[in-house]
Amino acid sequence: MPVATITDLTMQYTLTGPAEGLPVILLHAFPLSGAMWAAQATALGEEAGCRVVVPDLRGFGGTSAPAGPYPMDLLARDVVALADQLGLERFVLGGLSMGGYVAFALLRLAPQRVRGLILADTRAGTDTPEGQANREVMAQLAEREGTAPIADIMLPRLLAPASLANPAILDPVRAMILANSSTGIAGAARGMAQRADASDLLADIACPTLVLVGDQDTTTPITEAQILFERIPNAALVTLPNVGHLSNLEAPEAFTAALIHFVAGL
Ligand code: MLT
Repeated sequence: MPVATITDLTMQYTLTGPAEGLPVILLHAFPLSGAMWAAQATALGEEAGCRVVVPDLRGFGGTSAPAGPYPMDLLARDVVALADQLGLERFVLGGLSMGGYVAFALLRLAPQRVRGLILADTRAGTDTPEGQANREVMAQLAEREGTAPIADIMLPRLLAPASLANPAILDPVRAMILANSSTGIAGAARGMAQRADASDLLADIACPTLVLVGDQDTTTPITEAQILFERIPNAALVTLPNVGHLSNLEAPEAFTAALIHFVAGL
């Protein structure tokens, strides 16, 4: 897999599809890795002719995990630096959950780089004080006991009950979490706790935007997706039935079809 050297990082990423295709960058959820986008990267590359870049964000997958915290704008700067190295001036930017938080930070930093936006199972608002305290508990748990208890806590928040009972969905998600580093998980948890409210950005998002959400998502529920859909001027909303927070993994065909339809219209 290719790697890029970005400031203090060795950043691993995948590249799929023709070099001249529409660039699409997909940002993963917490505490997973770019591997969660494998099906969408293949389909966008092979069926839609896109040039799909999927990084492992700072602290995750094959990317190095320096000491945190990792504020969302730091993760966004890493992604912009990778796009610069790959010569991608403008790109479609997609993020699921934490990937969406990073997408908002990138929009604040460099809105002119974003040609289209995909926001899946995410929210614009910040954590409550209780949510911030829980992030710190999670960071300390990861540092103390490793990734196994993090997987146990996160899996029921990430997957709908039917997906939790389906080893074909559950097992790869658990494996992705277990393969991450405790330092990376702690760094991202503390970074998410500090994130800025992106609500003020929504009315100014000028590019076409696709909002997706699983109708059983309890982590970033449909009400959050509706706020994005209502406030972003040029947005479409796709609700995926019978799936939870990791909607791209739980309903890959419907999710991918929505992405292909969206990029075809750009
Ligand atoms: C994610 O899926 O990225 C996380 O659940 C986001 C969060 O904890 O806010």
